[in-house]
Amino acid sequence: MRRVSLTQYLVEQERKLHHVQPELRLLIEVVARACKAISHAVGKGELADVLGAAGTDNVQGEAQKKLDVISNEVLIEANSWGGSLAAMASEEMDEPFQIPNEYPKGRYLLLFDPLDGSSNIDVNVSIGTIFSVLECPPEVTTPDEASFLQPGTRQVAAGFAVYGPSTTLVLTVGHGTVGFTLDREVGSWILTQPRIEIPVETKEFSINMSNARNWPAPVKRYIDECLAGKEGPLGKDFNMRWVASMVADVYRILSRGGVFMYPADAKHKEGRLRLLYEANPMSFIVEQAGGAASTGTQRILDVQPSRLHQRIGVILGSREEVERVASYYAAAR
Ligand code: AHG
Ligand code: MN
Ligand code: MN
Repeated sequence: MRRVSLTQYLVEQERKLHHVQPELRLLIEVVARACKAISHAVGKGELADVLGAAGTDNVQGEAQKKLDVISNEVLIEANSWGGSLAAMASEEMDEPFQIPNEYPKGRYLLLFDPLDGSSNIDVNVSIGTIFSVLECPPEVTTPDEASFLQPGTRQVAAGFAVYGPSTTLVLTVGHGTVGFTLDREVGSWILTQPRIEIPVETKEFSINMSNARNWPAPVKRYIDECLAGKEGPLGKDFNMRWVASMVADVYRILSRGGVFMYPADAKHKEGRLRLLYEANPMSFIVEQAGGAASTGTQRILDVQPSRLHQRIGVILGSREEVERVASYYAAAR
């Protein structure tokens, strides 16, 4: 089998399609290298004293785990010196991080969720890292929050790593979605899924059922119909999965289809997931794999962000199911 590394994939994309310039390639490679380091720390677990609480809160008032903080530091350090970036923003930092003056600044902005699935760290369930790349607006030399407030359609690249039974990296640069697996001995990302396509139909849904009493009517209607199975209006039996790490749930949907939902509800009025470094990169990846992503009333990638740490309702996955849920929202209006 011809083994194609991440570097080779990116170089060939540039040769064929001229859309991964060296600056963007370096940026993606550096992020991927940081994910290797995080994967290593995750794999050590108890042995390296990386589990448990950090004793601090992030900007959203959530208790930080040690690995949230470590992963954030790894990504910041790795991405400071390369010269591709004008600034970075992270779930774990209130304000954008400026590139230190000793290093040159580049044309891109990087956003990340350094450690997704924090509640799963200490129980040894798959977790991951999510990232999104935007262009820095022209003329901006010191990017502030406003520089990052661009709709998801403006992303030039997005990806996520899953630290699971194997360590994987899913990536889009806007020409389809591809997957790599980390060869741990060699330390190299190898292209293992050259073309990821989400089946348009599905029989699997993914939602935190403990929020059922808070759901809006269209979500309740859809889940009731899934639960009704063959005898219900959808005419088929459904299966349910909820890992509580978005990276793992989305990875499963990319592999075998399904619909993932964390809608805005009576308790999570704006939604639970963050628009700029969770919903947007995942929606870009899912759309590039032939799926769809909606808030229920709008395509996620079209949402004009108003705050760096803004939350949003998310319904994504197999196109037909996402469209069905969106049609229930439309009917309820
Ligand atoms: P994070 O660990 O970055 O805060 O994100 C966790 C997110 C997402 O990964 C997952 O789908 C969801 O929160 C889980 O929410 P519940 O705890 O409500 O199941
Ligand atoms: Mn997250
Ligand atoms: Mn996180």
